[in-house]
Amino acid sequence: MRKSESKQKLLAKKISSIAGVISIPGDKSISHRAIILSMITQKTMRIYNILDSSDTNKSINAAINLGIECKKNDGFMTIKGKGLHGLKAPDQDLYFGNSGTSMRLFMGVLSAQKFPSVLSGDSSLNTRPMERVATPLRRMGASILLENDHAPIQIYPSEQIIGLKQKLKVPSAQVKSAILLASLYANSKTILDQYWITRNHTELMLEFLGSEIIHNESKIILKNGELKGRDTLEIPGDLSSAAFLILATLIAKDSQITIKDVGLNPTRTGFLKILQMMGGNISTKIDSNTNFEIQGTIKVKSSKLYGINVPENLISLSIDELPLVFLAAACAKGTTTIRNATELRFKESDRITAMVKLLSKLSIKVKELKDGIIINGGSITGGEIDSFGDHRIAMTALVASACSKTDILVHNTENIDTSFPNFVEIMNKLGMNIIDSEN
Ligand code: S3P
Repeated sequence: MRKSESKQKLLAKKISSIAGVISIPGDKSISHRAIILSMITQKTMRIYNILDSSDTNKSINAAINLGIECKKNDGFMTIKGKGLHGLKAPDQDLYFGNSGTSMRLFMGVLSAQKFPSVLSGDSSLNTRPMERVATPLRRMGASILLENDHAPIQIYPSEQIIGLKQKLKVPSAQVKSAILLASLYANSKTILDQYWITRNHTELMLEFLGSEIIHNESKIILKNGELKGRDTLEIPGDLSSAAFLILATLIAKDSQITIKDVGLNPTRTGFLKILQMMGGNISTKIDSNTNFEIQGTIKVKSSKLYGINVPENLISLSIDELPLVFLAAACAKGTTTIRNATELRFKESDRITAMVKLLSKLSIKVKELKDGIIINGGSITGGEIDSFGDHRIAMTALVASACSKTDILVHNTENIDTSFPNFVEIMNKLGMNIIDSEN
């Protein structure tokens, strides 16, 4: 069997400490939005620090299949926008691999086109819920066929897209973003009421690119119409990737790191707040030259962590980092309870069940709840663990080696490429010891 066909395994060896000053690759969520929005602006845009990963490449491939010129240059990418109505019919089905963000956001744009399209993904993406996006888009006049809530998705041209007035009940930035993208094509403005605060990157980028939009924690009003665009757009480092470095430093002995140029948008910083509540020594400083997204520096030192009840209002603000919060709880003194986190069951894997299995293998006592977990902090042993094909579970398992008694072997780690391709290189540069394992 060729190496590319075999499942990759990574072995994380016990370490002594972590140290360094580092920048991390561009934010995945903001990169997807930069690709999708710039293709429908009226400008050729240069995008700096865009994430080069298998997930973001799915958005780029889809843009190319829709007739958009995308060119990778040294340090930036050029995307030639064609305006709202300049996309061409794709001559093949659009394949989104593992990328839920690409599929759901493209649903918004494709619902409003004069041509049909078919969207599909890998075996994991094809089991994730899509009705939550299709239902509001159909209310806007879109014609979408799913297979029992799942991809493959068939989208047909609709007569007209109608401005929507709706309360958003699912705590999902992807659903919100798909609606906002379709709203640009609508016959009138769209008004959304939000129950939950979810990441607001789409709103901020629409504003930056010239949309008439009013948005706050509870309401979004977006006027339909063309996007002027900008010459350049700069993407901050991904806080969700930084989170792995942050937790590794907190749980390792005598460690200290500085992460520069990282996104500090308050709709994403729930993880930092939770870890600070648990006793984590984390400080942040916002850069004064911040543009449309807040960015800055994070400093972290090894800390003694304590169990807490994670507040409900921080769940949607830390949704992708919750596996790391589970690991923090496993290393903490006392009990941690995390509830109202049912959304974790609909990610790249069922992240509640995956983490229950992972922590149990590492000798931590946990109780699985329908909407969360109760974790009794303890002493992490080594072990052999599966990633369930989920990049964030794979990286969380490897980070556990920062305080485990013995080595940790993680199976099925190729999906790390979806969000953080140079994870191993960066972690090892800081003092971790993660190596390819052949057997
Ligand atoms: C994302 C939103 C979140 C998050 C995902 C990226 C985005 O998903 O889990 O990794 O870029 O909008 P939901 O919107 O489904 O919560």
